[in-house]
Parts: sequence; structure tokens; C-alpha cells
Amino acid sequence: MQAKPIIELQQVSKVYTSDDVQTHALSDINLKIYKGDYIAISGPSGCGKSTLLSLMGLLDDISGGSYQIEGVDTQSLDMDTQAELRNLHIGFIFQSFNLIDELSVFANVALPLQYREPALSKAEIAERVEHALGQVEISHRANHKPNQLSGGQQQRVAIARALAGTPSILLVDEPTGNLDSKNGDAVMALLAELNEQGTTICMVTHDPRYAGYAKKQVKLLDGKIINTDNIQTTAASAELEAV
Ligand SMILES: Nc1ncnc2c1ncn2[C@@H]1O[C@H](COP(=O)(O)OP(=O)(O)OP(=O)(O)O)[C@@H](O)[C@H]1O
Ligand SMILES: [Mg+2]
Repeated sequence: MQAKPIIELQQVSKVYTSDDVQTHALSDINLKIYKGDYIAISGPSGCGKSTLLSLMGLLDDISGGSYQIEGVDTQSLDMDTQAELRNLHIGFIFQSFNLIDELSVFANVALPLQYREPALSKAEIAERVEHALGQVEISHRANHKPNQLSGGQQQRVAIARALAGTPSILLVDEPTGNLDSKNGDAVMALLAELNEQGTTICMVTHDPRYAGYAKKQVKLLDGKIINTDNIQTTAASAELEAV
């Protein structure tokens, strides 16, 4: 039996059209991500890193090619079904933590779980939130508001919010961009630990030092992957392991 990738992009392209201007942000992207992977996508500003992550997270549609999550072809789905797939499988972590200042840490982490279909019970939501806060060691701040926390602590809350949904994969965009190097290092150590425990991670960074935390490297330049060997070897070895 062959291992099935969680995420599979084949010949994916993305063209942005605004007014009369067309921007070819991505072309010919082939990428497979397997359970347990920790992939870093790096490359210079404007090369398409965030675009690739937003396509993988179903925040935007691909312009060409095909994109499957857990074997489901995403292009054939209506928007509601895409949203369900996103809620079920994808956890997002951004540079700006995107926490809601009016809500407590606990309520921030609970919020996405309240929109789950089928609905989760209050007790199950509380259990998941407590577990996720424990995973990032921020349980002692559950009743604080985000603006009462340090940047590093806020990012840990954002990671807990993503983890609480028990996603198939964490999509992480420049997680240390708003942090000093000490807090940045701590967040990177946390992501590495989560990966050791089995969480699948795909992280975008322009910082080669942080890309080094990942197990596999994808390098983008002008919207194209420039080190396909690495990824194809990876896919082949994952398939071999499963035989
Ligand atoms: N919504 C949009 N409309 C039009 N063009 C866009 C849009 N989003 C991104 N682009 C263009 O697509 C290209 C890739 O942008 P993207 O944000 O993916 O780069 P990036 O690698 O994440 O850069 P950075 O390291 O600065 O965050 C750029 O040329 C950018 O101007
Ligand atoms: Mg970006």
C-alpha cells in the first residue's frame, strides 16, 4: 500500500488579475506533503510564498492545475464544502497573530471550534481548548486578554487556536516576523517539538536560519520551485516506507 499525501498540488498556477494587470504569481507547482512532514518554503520577497500557502489553505482558488487535500479534488467543490474542508483539515498561523483583543485567550482558542459541523459539545470544546493551551504551555494565561501578553505568548495562543481544531496540517506564514529573536527562537522550538509529536507543518519563511528547523526544503524563485529533486525524493521515500 502506498502512503497518500495529505496535500498534493499538480501543475498548479496562480494568476492575479487586477484592472488590466496580470501577475503570474505561481506556475508549474508540483508538491506532495505527507503526514509527519515539516516543510519550509523559502525564497525572496514576492516569489509567491504566501500565495502558495493561501492556495493550500483554500483561501484562494488556483488558476490552473489540480489541488487535492486528503485525496479530495478541491476544485470540484462549492464554497461551503471548501470551507468545511478548510475547517476540518487546515490550521493557520500568521505573522500577525490575528487574535481578537476583546476575547480572553480561552475564548480566542474556542471560537473556531464553535463553528464546527457537526457541532461540538461545550464540554468537548473546553477539553480541546485546555489541551491545546497545555501543548503550548500557556494554560496559566487562559483568562488574560491578548494585549496583556507578550508577542511570543500571543503567537503561542495563535498556535493553540490552530491546534485545537486537530488539523491534518498546520500552514504557517512567517511565524516569527513580529517577534524578537528570543521569542522567535522559542516559537520555532515549539513548532519543531509539535512536529516531533506528529503534527504536519508547512512553513513559509524568508529566513534561512528558521528554514533550517524544517526537515525538507522547498525553494521558490519567481513563482517556481527550483529544487524539485528534494521533494520528489521525499515523496518516493515516503511511498517506499509504506510498502
Ligand atoms: N491579491 C493580489 N493581487 C495581485 N497581485 C498579488 C496579490 N497577492 C500577491 N500578489 C503578487 O503575487 C506575487 C507573489 O506575492 P506573495 O505575497 O505570494 O509573495 P511572498 O513570497 O509571500 O513575499 P513576501 O516574502 O514579501 O511576503 C507578487 O508579485 C505580488 O505582488
Ligand atoms: Mg508573504
